[in-house]
Amino acid sequence: MKILVATEKPFAAEAVDGIGKIIRDAGHEMALLEKYTDKAQLLEAVADADAIIVRSDKVTQDVVDAAPKLKIVVRAGAGFDNVDLAACSARRIVVMNTPGQNSNAVAELAIGMMIYMARNCFSPGTGSEIHGKTLGIHAYGNVGKLVGRYGKAMGMEVYAYDPFITDKAVFEADGVVPVDSVEELYSKSRYLSLHIPATEQTKGSIGYDLLTSMPKGGTLVNTARKEVIDEQGLAQALEERPDLKYATDIAAGNQAELEEKFGKRVFGTAKKMGAETAEANINAGLAAANQIVGFFATGCTRFQVNKF
Ligand code: 3PG
Repeated sequence: MKILVATEKPFAAEAVDGIGKIIRDAGHEMALLEKYTDKAQLLEAVADADAIIVRSDKVTQDVVDAAPKLKIVVRAGAGFDNVDLAACSARRIVVMNTPGQNSNAVAELAIGMMIYMARNCFSPGTGSEIHGKTLGIHAYGNVGKLVGRYGKAMGMEVYAYDPFITDKAVFEADGVVPVDSVEELYSKSRYLSLHIPATEQTKGSIGYDLLTSMPKGGTLVNTARKEVIDEQGLAQALEERPDLKYATDIAAGNQAELEEKFGKRVFGTAKKMGAETAEANINAGLAAANQIVGFFATGCTRFQVNKF
């Protein structure tokens, strides 16, 4: 089988070597398309691919149409909002993710961004400490859990809300305080770490009302997705509340405007870098390769995220 690794944002070299070894040891062939700048390059590369490994690369209807032999797509990472599940399901193409494999890297970045904002973007002058402050975790999945654990290690008072976890014991086992609603979470959290996926339900759901309910000095840290933010609501909240701050790993549509207007109260990484560690690349990339090899060997569909 031909397995294409298509990554506009490439994996670390060590991860690519490891992926190649897994693929070749199982008797398959690897093709590599990195740092492509044009969709046409992806469309050409998928023409004879039986499987694809991607990161945030968009696997849209035209990509599926250009890949007549495609049987499986593995998103090496957690969020699969970049893959058109309906287009894949219509062709009975299995889509998987690799949950948990890059979570630590994202969690470390979230904590780093909190400290960066608390210290005024490392510029001269008096900052503050995150120790002793409240931290809200919005969605308690693999990344959220780790951010909670690291926040507690830093002496933060950690609260969490996850609409899909009704058993409070899940939070309490980690020493995290569960709250009953998203509104309660924001109103309690000096720091709010966002870990919700981008879905039809969550898109544009974090805006003016939630942000302005945060306590004085409220800081929203977004290592999740740009789409979940109501950008106009965010701008309005920052305008009306000069104490609020926003740090994001995924540039807002109006990022330049926000940074110009609100200075050091707004920070965005140059390019999404939450999962950009060698360790995360190796974990997620090798997991993706092993999942594809397992799928072709035994039909194993563990981690499949689409239904057909
Ligand atoms: C994920 O969903 O796993 C993260 O957003 C990482 O995305 P990336 O592989 O594009 O860095």
